[in-house]
Amino acid sequence: MRELQAPKGVSEYFPPRSQYFEFVRETLIESAKISGYQLMELPVFEDTELFIRGVGESTDVVSKEMYTFEDRGGRSITLRPEGTAGVMRSVIEHNLDKLTLPLKVWYSGAYFRAERPQAGRYRQFYQVGIEAIGLNDPEIDFEVIAVADRAFKKLGLKSYRLDITSLGDAKSRASHRKDLVAYISKLNLDEATVKKAGLNPLRLFDDKRPEVQEAMAKAPLLLDYLSEESRVNFQRVQELLQDAKIEFTINPRMVRGLDYYTGTTFEFVSDKLGAQSGIGGGGRYDGLMAELGGNDLSGIGFGLGVDRILLACEAEGIFDSSVNNPQLDLFIIALTAEEKGYVSNLVNELRNSGISCDMAYGDRALKGAMKSADKSGAKFSAVIGSDEIKSGSVAIKNMDSGESKEVRINSLATEFKSN
Ligand code: HAM
Repeated sequence: MRELQAPKGVSEYFPPRSQYFEFVRETLIESAKISGYQLMELPVFEDTELFIRGVGESTDVVSKEMYTFEDRGGRSITLRPEGTAGVMRSVIEHNLDKLTLPLKVWYSGAYFRAERPQAGRYRQFYQVGIEAIGLNDPEIDFEVIAVADRAFKKLGLKSYRLDITSLGDAKSRASHRKDLVAYISKLNLDEATVKKAGLNPLRLFDDKRPEVQEAMAKAPLLLDYLSEESRVNFQRVQELLQDAKIEFTINPRMVRGLDYYTGTTFEFVSDKLGAQSGIGGGGRYDGLMAELGGNDLSGIGFGLGVDRILLACEAEGIFDSSVNNPQLDLFIIALTAEEKGYVSNLVNELRNSGISCDMAYGDRALKGAMKSADKSGAKFSAVIGSDEIKSGSVAIKNMDSGESKEVRINSLATEFKSN
């Protein structure tokens, strides 16, 4: 029989590494929650049209990387390549913009892009994202960037940088586009590139080919075309970042991979990851909701790549020191088969009281059971035989120091709760 394998290029997490994945994801989520963001849980697949209209046809994501298929009812369905379009669809469909604005939501889950797999680039990957909808205000731009930065600092990451730019408002972009299109029309480009530039001329800044990069070296930059309002907003975002001591670099050539961006846009980049160094990015998307048929509300958000952030943490050696592995409090061993039922009940009751504990299963001799206690990583272990049951008292052994102390069996729960 053929050996079954996971599909090519997907990321998977299993013990012991999965605890670090969980730690990273929960740290990112926590930073969103303490900033007032609420959970949004959305479908993994949506109508294909949502992403074509929302993410944009000029993007690699839509033109090359979507997992699109026909469902049994003949509808075109796509596995979500990103989270923002789905959030907007749901906000419009359920009139969530009638609630207090800004509407602030977070989400977390798997996303799908048929990219060429390599280290840090997967076909199924994980994001934690936030969106703040209904307010065009530099304070909220700052808040969104700070939520990500706080999470990275909480994780203990040091070798990362923040690039920011502004794509301006519609007025700024229209006057820049005119000059950029005129500049591009004078270049000697192949047909596919001309077509791409026709959909979104900014894409050419993102072209990795040296000849295109060279040709674009003197292209007009959007930052020089900002309207007065956009310029003042962008200036304010920078001041707020400076006040918060969040370091950043202005990168006027930064192009995000999705078409909906306007105003403040940003990317976090790790120095430790090689080619796939983007650990998170986002920005404002002021026309998106209207484009998808909703009210003309502004929004800003980010998507953080949990897989890459985990890789960055590992590359920086963070888990050697700062993570407290989720630890069991107690591991209990029955001395003989006679006490198994008693221990099983005791473990169940301790768990009911919220104490994390486990026991040695199977018919292993004491030595083997002690090995299981070691491997479990529990803080304490205890062996219960007929003597302990009779006396109602047991020695609990600190697995680090080797020291033991006597505790009444019926006080075990209180003992561990007070620890
Ligand atoms: P994005 O820049 O396309 O933005 O993705 C965000 C992050 O997801 C990237 O910085 C990267 O860490 C991770 N990522 C993307 N593709 C892959 C992949 N193939 N393998 C591993 N990690 C990957 C968005 O998705 C926007 N929805 C963010 C946003 C929210 N903008 C406004 N609101």
